[in-house]
Amino acid sequence: MSTIISEDIANPPTNRLLKVLDVALPDRNYPITIGTNLLSHLEHFKLHAGQRVLIATNTTIAPLYLQTLTNMLAANGIEVDSVIVPDGEQYKTMATWNTILTQLLANNHTRRSILIALGGGVIGDVAGFAASAYQRGIPFIQVPTTLLAQVDSSVGGKTAINHPLGKNMIGAFYQPQAVVIDLNCLKTLPPRQLSAGLAEVIKYGIILDSTFFDWLESHIDDLLHLDPAAMSYCIYHCCKLKADVVIADETEQNLRAILNLGHTYGHAIETELGYGKWLHGEAVSVGMLMAAYAANLLDKFSLTDIDRIKNLLSRAGLPITRPSQMPAEAYLPHMLRDKKVLSGQLRLVLPTQIGKVEVIDGIDKNIVLESIKSVEMK
Ligand code: NAD
Ligand code: GLY
Repeated sequence: MSTIISEDIANPPTNRLLKVLDVALPDRNYPITIGTNLLSHLEHFKLHAGQRVLIATNTTIAPLYLQTLTNMLAANGIEVDSVIVPDGEQYKTMATWNTILTQLLANNHTRRSILIALGGGVIGDVAGFAASAYQRGIPFIQVPTTLLAQVDSSVGGKTAINHPLGKNMIGAFYQPQAVVIDLNCLKTLPPRQLSAGLAEVIKYGIILDSTFFDWLESHIDDLLHLDPAAMSYCIYHCCKLKADVVIADETEQNLRAILNLGHTYGHAIETELGYGKWLHGEAVSVGMLMAAYAANLLDKFSLTDIDRIKNLLSRAGLPITRPSQMPAEAYLPHMLRDKKVLSGQLRLVLPTQIGKVEVIDGIDKNIVLESIKSVEMK
């Protein structure tokens, strides 16, 4: 189990809402630190004077946060350079991966250099994958700046790039040495991106924790307004739920698959429409509804619970209708390429009640088609 090292939420005047969670994997540990103003403090990065760092970020995040992070590291005796790549899911590619590797080589970074991923899930995934490959692996640190990255993609060591034939199809399991979550970064996040992150937050309630789902029903507006205490609790709780799954099954032999609720449908939307058209969280929102309908068609999940999920997703500003330009039949070829598919059989994560899911093999294609059609088109 992950352990709480500190939690000083009870001490508001001086604290930075600081919480530290230790992810204790079988062969290594790393801390996830959540708080405010962390980009200006070295203490949670597990770095020290004399080290060399490359920061990978993108054209949107660089003007917002690169200088603060660079100055802080330099002031602490760390040698820093950076690589700024284009922004967008459509750039989560081998070309961007190669740009990061080229910068590492061009600036003579060694095996001891540390790569910092400063950005959302796209930067975290592609930079993490570059770290896994450079000189057969150098340490890296995740500094997630979107809600989605703070609650999900920065935790657990999945790194990847997309291929035109499938999302996240090329990558590695590669754990960071630290995850530093600065709540202040959310202040500049566009509302649509905040909502996209809430899709993964709601996912945790559906798959693992009905009490947390209840809490979200009462606090979704606080999260949309970036209430610091609610947001800090929410991010911490999601990281803890995910860390416990990752500790139990780091390389997704079984249990970790539950984190993919709605993702098989969602990845089909992202790939078919073109990466970046629908945000990952938006596609997951509709995908979770489709999974809920599939479970209902198999008599495993009630329409009342589907309504609760639909209502919460909608209040979070997420889509609950599917893209009009994509017929139900167009989902299947993508879904059959999903990493969970074994021997050509569809394998889906389906809810059985709020807070519980099952991974079900060999689901009839007609059920899948019906579940897609159950979600209205926009
Ligand atoms: P993203 O990285 O594209 O970021 C969303 C947008 O917000 C981008 O335009 C980005 O530049 C901008 N941005 C980031 N931080 C900002 C800030 N603080 N202020 C203003 N703008 C900011 O998207 P995302 O939603 O963070 O991540 C989605 C990606 O994560 C997908 O590729 C998905 O496959 C991946 N993912 C990976 C895992 C995993 O376990 N590795 C889990 C879930 C999702
Ligand atoms: N987002 C799915 C996972 O980390 O396994």
